[in-house]
Amino acid sequence: MIYPEDAYLPYEAEIVEFIQDAPDIFTLRCSLVDKNLRQQYRFEPGQFNMLYLYGVGEVAISIVNDRAFSADIFEHTIQVVGRITKGMAKLEKGQKIGIRGPFGSMWPVDEAKGKDVVIMTGGLGNAPLVAACERIFANRDAYNRVYVVQGIKEAKGLIYQDKYTRWNNIENTEVIITATAGESFGPWKWYQGFVTEAIPDLALDYANTIVMSVGPEIMMKNVAKSFIQTGVPKDNIYISLERSMKCAIGHCGHCQMGKEFICKDGAVYAYPMVESLLEIKGV
Ligand SMILES: Cc1cc2nc3c(=O)[nH]c(=O)nc-3n(C[C@H](O)[C@H](O)[C@H](O)COP(=O)(O)OP(=O)(O)OC[C@H]3O[C@@H](n4cnc5c(N)ncnc54)[C@H](O)[C@@H]3O)c2cc1C
Ligand code: FES
Repeated sequence: MIYPEDAYLPYEAEIVEFIQDAPDIFTLRCSLVDKNLRQQYRFEPGQFNMLYLYGVGEVAISIVNDRAFSADIFEHTIQVVGRITKGMAKLEKGQKIGIRGPFGSMWPVDEAKGKDVVIMTGGLGNAPLVAACERIFANRDAYNRVYVVQGIKEAKGLIYQDKYTRWNNIENTEVIITATAGESFGPWKWYQGFVTEAIPDLALDYANTIVMSVGPEIMMKNVAKSFIQTGVPKDNIYISLERSMKCAIGHCGHCQMGKEFICKDGAVYAYPMVESLLEIKGV
């Protein structure tokens, strides 16, 4: 944590690189301006920062990279959806934003050791799991088979192609892409349709498999149900929830879902913790 005195105080970070990943998706590579904070800053896979576009507002955005791979720089991949993300899309190298964080729970990268692992994501749901993948691949021998399955609507909209190529070349690891439209390309196995299409062909020791999934809630529910049917224990399935956030420290109630405060109890949850909440419309 880098907010010892005031949890609401954003720290200044400089944009060291702006990458346009797709027409409506971009990555900000940021570096904290204060040298001491920069050296102290640590995060776990699955955590997020609150990014402040000065004079406009704050948004919750997952931390994409793993600290171990980039000593002073961290990354955020952002989709343009509304007022703040539209403004952030106009940022340029050298400009500053405010950062609070890191916040939230982490992916079960330690619990997954000695097990098969499936990372199953849809759309920009791949961003919150990049750091988990990098952490796993940094200690690859500690895990059994690893599958990374990414679902997109249109094949040509695939981001992180360099990462997927690198991961696909790692021993005992396979990257699978599913798309509902468009022509396949690249070195990965493709399926037409939703991510769940790939499940029957995964060679898994089901009782000894950990699943981590992010995407639209309907996708995560279907992923969880499909894996439970194959014999993966419910407790071994993890998802990450997305709710509008303001304080990010469990005070304002903006992110509340039943008794859960997604900002501090989540956003990563073991599926049984939130299964019943996902069944209630409007929660
Ligand atoms: C823990 C957590 C991690 C997140 N990680 C990321 C990330 O890595 N990258 C990223 O791009 N986003 C991420 N988000 C979502 C991001 O916080 C929202 O997209 C952002 O707050 C939108 O702000 P805005 O002002 O641009 O849009 P707003 O003005 O708030 O919204 C404009 C319109 O878009 C709708 N909208 C808002 N959010 C979304 C959404 N996520 N999807 C579709 N429609 C939406 C609103 O209902 C509204 O109609 C994350 C959210 C959480 C809670
Ligand atoms: S965002 Fe304020 S309680 Fe979670």
